[in-house]
Parts: sequence; C-alpha cells; structure tokens
Amino acid sequence: MLTNKPKTKILVDGGDPDETLRVKKLLGFVDGQTTNPSLIAKNPEIQQQIASGHSLTSQEEKDEYRKIVQTISSLVGDAGVSIEVFADLDTRAEDMLAQGEEMFTWIPNAYIKYPCTHEGLKAAELSVRQQIRVNMTLCFSQEQAAAVYTATKGSKEPVYVSPFVGRLDDRGEDGIDLVKNIKTMYRHGDGHVHVLAASIRHLDHLLASFALDVELVTVPAKVLEKWASSNLPMPDRDFSYKAASASGEPLKPIPYKELDLNQSWQSFDITHELTAKGIQKFVADYRSTLKRSA
Ligand code: E4P
Repeated sequence: MLTNKPKTKILVDGGDPDETLRVKKLLGFVDGQTTNPSLIAKNPEIQQQIASGHSLTSQEEKDEYRKIVQTISSLVGDAGVSIEVFADLDTRAEDMLAQGEEMFTWIPNAYIKYPCTHEGLKAAELSVRQQIRVNMTLCFSQEQAAAVYTATKGSKEPVYVSPFVGRLDDRGEDGIDLVKNIKTMYRHGDGHVHVLAASIRHLDHLLASFALDVELVTVPAKVLEKWASSNLPMPDRDFSYKAASASGEPLKPIPYKELDLNQSWQSFDITHELTAKGIQKFVADYRSTLKRSA
C-alpha cells in the first residue's frame, strides 16, 4: 500500500467497478475514474447479458452505463468519474450537451467527456456556463489544448484536458512530448485547466507523467498492478524518459509551439486525424462489442 501519495492524482481507466475496488485495495486509494464507450461495452455484467443472448436496447445500455458509474462513484476520491457522451462524427453540440446535462445528474462527482472537436468544444463552452464539469478527451495537439483553455475560460470548476500518450506513440510520435508542451503552455495561463495524461500503456508513461507534475493521470488497472508489484517506484531527480516504441524504436519528438491563450478558441486549427479516428473507434468498438447494428 502507498504511504507517500504522489502529488499527481491517480485515476483508473476502465469500466468495471470490481477492478476499481481491486486497485483501491492494492493502493489504499483511487482518486478518480475515467470511462469511455469501448471500456463500458467490455464491462463483465454487460458481457454476461450479451453472452446469454440478451441484446440491450439503447435505454438499457444507458441504464447499465449509469449503474456502472454510480457504483464507481462512491469508490473514488475528489478527481471524480469521467462519463463520455455518445458521439459520432455527425453529432452536434446541442445533442452532446443534452447528454452531458443528463449524465451530470447521475452522480455527484461527474465530469462529462466531450471530444476535442469543434462540436465538442461548443458543448464544453456551454457546459461550463452551467457549472457542468468537463473532461476534454481525444486531445492530440497543443492547438486543441489551447482551444480547450480559451473555450472554458471562466469555469468555476477545474476543467480536464486528456492528451492521449499511447496513441501518439503508436504512430511513432512521442506522446509524452505533447503532455510536456501542454504543461509548458499552461504555465502562462490561469490554472483552470488541469492536464490528465491518458492512454497510458506502461510504467515509463506513468513515471514520466509524475515527473512532469501533471495534475492527473488515468491508468489501466494492469499498469497500476505492475506499478504496485514493482514497489511503487517514483521518478527521482535524475529520471529521464526514454521515448521508445513497443519495439524499441526511438519516437519522433513533438516540437513546442508558441500559441496565444488570449485568442478565441475558434481561431485555433484543432483538426487532428487521431481525434476523428478515436471517435470512430469508440463507435465501432461499442457497436461490435454490444453486437449492435448502426
Ligand atoms: C481515457 O480517458 C481514455 O479513454 C483512455 O486513456 C484511452 O486509452 P487507449 O488509447 O489505451 O484506448
């Protein structure tokens, strides 16, 4: 069990309350949880229902999602539970906002996840005005993080932005560089956006996130279990992150950009191929795991 809790808040990246409980027993705490449609579809109870031949209606799916986050809600600390809206590439901000408003009532510690797209940012801008906490997901560029900052300026609650480290690594770019660049850019800001390192695949990602002093990191249970079985190492002053792919190839650095956080969010070029792909993957995973047609 951890006696010296890291400054960075630790969230479990998953969709199964039993897993969250297991991690909590192992570490002695869990600060929060992130979920997404792919992870929820894999929830063992949902899987059991499908295996027994029951195909869920969309209302039943929503009820299951609510039940899962309600169970997780009481297990975690003040970083809350991030609940993702169901969005494809055509979903409009108004639709995302309506889902977000409803999901926000499910639990007292909800963060609503919207994608870092034009419609997602519009939904976020409207949400924070209603004091709905948001977590901006599928962030793959510094421009997207700048847009998150300016779209949510004035939010009374902290806003999360989730740069996806592993998915950038997967295509040969150093995802940790993006996290570092966003942290550096936000140094000139008012502190209302907290960086939540996501898509964490291994221990070095976790240690690099600690070393960068990110406010939060979301981690699959298996990586946290590995961390615990390695005696919960923390990066020391000499820690240096070696950016390498799964096969050991060096990753391409992502250069820092000077961006003006006083610009309007609409003026940033926020398109990123991986954001669009990520939205499509969530929809496809969800439908295929739940054996649902479009
Ligand atoms: C967190 O909010 C994300 O849903 C998650 O970290 C995605 O990770 P993956 O790239 O391993 O799917």
